[in-house]
Amino acid sequence: MSDIREPSEDAVKLAAKLLNEGQLVALPTETVYGLGVNARDGEAVARLYEAKGRPSFNPLIVHLPSLEAARKIAVFDAKAEMLAKAFWPGPLTLVLPLREDSGIHPLVTAGLDTIALRVPAHPLAEKVLTAASIPIAAPSANPSGRLSPTRAEHVAEGLGDKIALILDGGATDIGLESTIIKPGKPSLLLRPGGIARDRIEAVIGEALTMADGSAIIAPGMLKSHYAPGASLRLDAAIAEPDELLLGFGPDAPSGALNLSPTGDMREAAQNLFSYLRQLDAQKPSRIAVMPIPHEGLGEAINERLSRAAAPRD
Ligand code: TXA
Ligand code: MG
Repeated sequence: MSDIREPSEDAVKLAAKLLNEGQLVALPTETVYGLGVNARDGEAVARLYEAKGRPSFNPLIVHLPSLEAARKIAVFDAKAEMLAKAFWPGPLTLVLPLREDSGIHPLVTAGLDTIALRVPAHPLAEKVLTAASIPIAAPSANPSGRLSPTRAEHVAEGLGDKIALILDGGATDIGLESTIIKPGKPSLLLRPGGIARDRIEAVIGEALTMADGSAIIAPGMLKSHYAPGASLRLDAAIAEPDELLLGFGPDAPSGALNLSPTGDMREAAQNLFSYLRQLDAQKPSRIAVMPIPHEGLGEAINERLSRAAAPRD
C-alpha cells in the first residue's frame, strides 16, 4: 500500500524528493486529485501510463507553479497571456505550442508539437510544484476510464498499490477536471470543465468553438470514460426497481442521493464523482440520473455523464 500523508512541510519535501527521483506521487488540486510525475523523465512517465492503464496516445497535462514557469515550456501569444492572467492559478488548461527547448519528454505530449499546461489553485499543489521545481505531468489519479478521484481515499482505492505517496488535502473544491482551451482562430473548447464557457468567452471577447471528434488534434476524447462499474441511464424522471437514483434539484425524491437539493451547479459538480462512486459501491445493475440543466458548469457535468453512460467494450 502507498503512504498517505496529511499536509505538512515534511510531506511536501518528501513529495518533491520522490518526484525528482522519478516516482509517482498523488496530490490534490482544486479540481480532482492528480497523479504527478516528472515530465522530463520518460521512464517515469511510462510507469505512470502503465499504472493508470492509459492508452499511451493520450497526452497529459503539465502542472506548473506559475505563469512565469509555464512560459519556459510553451509559447504564449496575446490571447494565451490574457487567459492565463485571468484564470491562473485555477481550473483552466491551455493547449499551446511546445517550445523546442522545453525538456519535456515526448511521451508526455504523445509526440504532439503542442502541450497542455495549467497552474493549479491549491495551496498544497502549489507548494509541491515549487519545491520540486520541475514540470509535473499529472492526469487524474484514477485507473484509466474510471471515475476521477476527489478524495485521497479514492486514489488509494484505485491505485494505492502502484504509487509511492498520496498527499491528503481533503475533498477537492471543484470536483470536475479543468476546462481545456486551445487559443487560436477560432479558439477551441477541447473539454468543458471547472470554468464555465461563458466566463472564458467574456475574457477573450469571442465565442469558443466546441471541438468535435475531428477537430480535436489529440485523442483524450475516448467515448466511454469516467465510467463507474454500473451502467448509467440519463435524464431519468424516476428510478426503475433495479436502479439506484442520482437526484438533482428540489424535485428529487427525498430518499435519493442528491447532487444538489437546491439545484446549485457548483455543488453538483463537487459531488458528481464521489456520489457516482457511492452509488456504484452498492453494485446496482444501473444508476438512473435525473436531468441536469446544461447551463454554466452543467455543460461539463453533462459531458462527464454522457461519457460515463457510453457503451463500453
Ligand atoms: O483538472 C485537471 O485537468 C486534472 C488535474 C489533475 O489537474 N488533470 C486531468 O488530466 O484531467 P488528464 O490527463 O486526465 O486529462 C488530459 C486531457 C486529455 O483529455 C488530453 O487529451 C488533453 O488533456 N490534452 C493533453 N495534451 C493535449 C494536447 N497537446 N492537445 C489537445 N489535448 C490535449
Ligand atoms: Mg482523467
